Amino acid sequence: MGMSTDTDGAENEHGYLLDNQQSEAGVRFGALAELFDPVTFRHVDRIGLTEGMRCWEVGAGGPSVPTGLAERVGPTRQVVCADIDVSWAREAASPVVEVLRHDVATDPPPPGGFDLVHARLVLVHVVDRAEALRRMVRALRPVGCCSLRTPIRGSSPCCARTSPAPGSGSPTGLRADAYFPITSPACTVLEAATVRQIRGRLVAAGIATDADIDRHLANVATGQLDLATAPLVSAWGRRAP
Ligand SMILES: C[S@@+](CC[C@H](N)C(=O)[O-])C[C@H]1O[C@@H](n2cnc3c(N)ncnc32)[C@H](O)[C@@H]1O
Repeated sequence: MGMSTDTDGAENEHGYLLDNQQSEAGVRFGALAELFDPVTFRHVDRIGLTEGMRCWEVGAGGPSVPTGLAERVGPTRQVVCADIDVSWAREAASPVVEVLRHDVATDPPPPGGFDLVHARLVLVHVVDRAEALRRMVRALRPVGCCSLRTPIRGSSPCCARTSPAPGSGSPTGLRADAYFPITSPACTVLEAATVRQIRGRLVAAGIATDADIDRHLANVATGQLDLATAPLVSAWGRRAP
């Protein structure tokens, strides 16, 4: 058997499959930053995030997004960087960034109101994502922006649903687009780290054997495969004034 992890097969109390306390989580967050930070910050800048605005980064994972938000809103404590597990996000802590252990689906939103509430690759992991979205929208100040990014798997981007969750209020200016990294060294890094993180679950579920996984990891390591990630769909809208 190849590399294993101390929490293989375990799911945390929130039902999230990819335990942030594993070392591979840090590798995955680095790869996600390389793949998706440029498009994330293009959107953030287009939304018009500027000095003095307040942000809630939901399910931050690693430090790169809260750090980029802080660069835009500094110099006071304006970014709440939240996650159910802040093992990697805590690196973003600074006079501008408050790091908070927080479950978006069950905890009350952080107080104070926000001009931007942002979640990338988070709601796909939340069982009651409609409730999570309601909480995110309720935390917005008038004309504040809610910005979501989620992967599309097994369906065409034109099937993405951008209508608001029931009870989440009436957003204005709802927009959506998609970004599809077809191949990049970061896709390879992401694939290997993700497979290593979930190999125990794959084997336990009978989806793959250890030999299958070792063979796949060896193929990935050659760098000869063009590995794509799922397209990332972004949707954003503002709370009515
Ligand atoms: C796939 S990672 C994405 C991390 C980061 N947003 C990015 O795009 O690089 C999902 C993150 O969401 C967090 N998460 C999962 N369920 C959550 C919940 N109910 N509330 C807050 N964070 C959650 C996980 O701990 C993890 O850090």
